[in-house]
Amino acid sequence: MTSQSQKIPRHAIRGPVLTFKGDAFKDGIENTMVYESDAIVAFGEGYITHFGPADKIKPQLPAGITIKNYGPDSLISAGFLDSHVHFPQTPMIGAYGEQLLDWLNKYTFPTERKYADKAIATSVAREFLDECLKNGITTNCVYCTVFPQSVDALFEEAERLGMRIAAGKVLMNRNAPDYLLDTTKTGYDDSKMLINKWHGRNRLMYAITPRFAPTSTPDQLESAGELWTEYPDCYMQTHVSENKGEVAWVKELFPERKGYLDVYDYHKLCRPRAVFGHGIHLDDEEMQCMHRTGSAISHCPTSNFFLGSGFFNLHRAMQKNRPVRVGLGTDLGAGTSFSILQTLNEAYKAAQLNNNKLDAAHAFYLSTRGTAHAMYIEDKVGSIAPGMEADMVVLNMKSTPVIEYRMQFAKNIEEALFIQMIMGDDRAVRSTYVAGELRYSNEGL
Ligand code: GUN
Ligand code: ZN
Repeated sequence: MTSQSQKIPRHAIRGPVLTFKGDAFKDGIENTMVYESDAIVAFGEGYITHFGPADKIKPQLPAGITIKNYGPDSLISAGFLDSHVHFPQTPMIGAYGEQLLDWLNKYTFPTERKYADKAIATSVAREFLDECLKNGITTNCVYCTVFPQSVDALFEEAERLGMRIAAGKVLMNRNAPDYLLDTTKTGYDDSKMLINKWHGRNRLMYAITPRFAPTSTPDQLESAGELWTEYPDCYMQTHVSENKGEVAWVKELFPERKGYLDVYDYHKLCRPRAVFGHGIHLDDEEMQCMHRTGSAISHCPTSNFFLGSGFFNLHRAMQKNRPVRVGLGTDLGAGTSFSILQTLNEAYKAAQLNNNKLDAAHAFYLSTRGTAHAMYIEDKVGSIAPGMEADMVVLNMKSTPVIEYRMQFAKNIEEALFIQMIMGDDRAVRSTYVAGELRYSNEGL
């Protein structure tokens, strides 16, 4: 077998590169961050074959290969990852005025009803994935709806684009309108059918998706745990401790459990490749459980501010004596932006409100390799190195007049990156490569 790094490079790009070769939170920026001011990344057959300083790599490439030079005002990074997002909520981003439970009843459930129609699901899936690529997002962990055809629609489009994504059918058998309910049996059967159809096909991965504890009976949670035991290399995604009213409701619904997370742990839903949205109000014992079980939290700051849910304490979650894996999430349509830069902007503000600092180097780590680590795929995506899958985003560091003006005063790469995450948005994305294919260019394909 030839290793990935022995694959033949077909394309190469040149420019400044930022990437991480380890866990920036655990091992420090100085030991993990790699910044090359003039680098070449070469790739072929979906994988990166070469990466390093341009003058060193250039002579190693086959004669005749074209090198696209993005120039010194660009930044090449691994593609961004989004560990928590609801594609069917794309048409309802920015729905006014409610907190979580009322927002679900008033806006979300009526919107998700429409996905019984496969054609609608397909058209939204296209719009959604286009927008992801426009924002440099190459991998995400996606909630579909209760309707299996909405999962088919998303996976069909993601497969066409060659993307590595995880997604699943929402399981929900109570406390939602009848038109959105499954049963324990149909939820199990449909999920199993979808796993057999999609999981491990090309780059696609299935996520068993109980929406959250209030909308599943204990029986359905148990059946989700059993399904996951049958297919242990799938993901499991759900929500936990997002909103104080929700936490109180879970206490009423599951009085026999110690707390919200214990509802999931009891049903065998806490282990590696579990991705829990939010976790804002988890107590120390619950954080300990997250750590012990290798579960991950998806930090979704734009959503948390939008719904008034609170501000997640990233530094507390990552504390060194029991670090919890944390990824970044947009949580659209409660989240307000597809832009990972804008999501980092809000993550910075959440850290400020917790009296912590989120510097740009840690933030860029979080949005790439850190989220890949939370999803247990940092051996595949999230960094730039030979053998990694060739998912990359190219940023323009001077994407608007005011950013261009501000960049004159940036003294080093850390400052330049911070300016991007505070002021940048989709306009900063020049190009997005998925498995080595150019899938988005702001100059058109
Ligand atoms: N909790 C249960 N469902 C949802 C959802 O769709 N969005 C968010 N933000 N929280 C949830
Ligand atoms: Zn969510």
